[in-house]
Amino acid sequence: MKKILVIGSLNLDYTIDLKAIPRPGETVKGRTISQIPGGKGANQAYACGKLGGAAAMIGCVGTDGAGRTLKENLESVGVDTSGILEIENSPSGQAYIALEDTGENSIIIIPGANEYVTKELIDKNRRLIEECNYILMQFEIPLDTVKYVKQLARSMGKTVIVDPAPAVSDIEDYFWDGIDIIKPNETELEVITGKKMDTKYDYIIGARKMVDKGVKTVIVTLGKEGCLLVDKSQAQFFHTEDVDVVDTTAAGDCFTAALAVALSEGQDISDAINFAQKASSIAVTRKGAQTSIPSRDELNGGG
Ligand code: RIB
Repeated sequence: MKKILVIGSLNLDYTIDLKAIPRPGETVKGRTISQIPGGKGANQAYACGKLGGAAAMIGCVGTDGAGRTLKENLESVGVDTSGILEIENSPSGQAYIALEDTGENSIIIIPGANEYVTKELIDKNRRLIEECNYILMQFEIPLDTVKYVKQLARSMGKTVIVDPAPAVSDIEDYFWDGIDIIKPNETELEVITGKKMDTKYDYIIGARKMVDKGVKTVIVTLGKEGCLLVDKSQAQFFHTEDVDVVDTTAAGDCFTAALAVALSEGQDISDAINFAQKASSIAVTRKGAQTSIPSRDELNGGG
């Protein structure tokens, strides 16, 4: 099986369950608080493992209990964590998540050890890059590292998949050139293109703008509306199953990971998107980040 390497963040999520996310200046009561393994990078690595992919991760945690929990959770689904460095004197990354009854959330991250995912760490783990076929990255580690890996990965002929989250507006055009797949959601597409979007047609125009910058395939996730695939020769919408949404945390991470797993097994892009939609539509029916990721058996119709 082809190998997937995730380079990204690991956070311990502190999820507060409440009726409605507070507005600026408002104080509200929360109901419960739970600690759940998260971080966009770790969620993607965990999902790759749980969905049956051969995955490894490069990242950083602190020498604290959270760091141990985060690494152990990845190992429980067979992820190779030899590229995860423990940093002394820095706490593991944390995320404070307000989760309201509609299933929507708002997230504040404190990067902590994630800031130590440097070019030097990448060079130290060159073997993992050489051995993999797919590289998955997000924007919760220093952007300079993401840019460095993208160049390196391209020169080594790896397939690069970027989940541009949290979205950044001022990235130079040359960064996008040659990336195989990006997977923004609607708001991330607005930020990276600098255009407000309201209609499905706007998303096609926005995705085409990224193709013009050199991205080979753009997949825009559109929540209940499914997703949009745009490349040089097509623009195609994919519908998704209607489900009762409980928590959207990590649904995008689950989608990206499932897409990579399906591609690593040789599925074509349409089948890979259908597989990814199936996985993320299960994830949104459950609470938490890594706690919401389905297993391969569940996707295949088993328990
Ligand atoms: O994508 C969801 C993730 O974003 C959470 O797990 C949180 O840690 C933040 O990184």
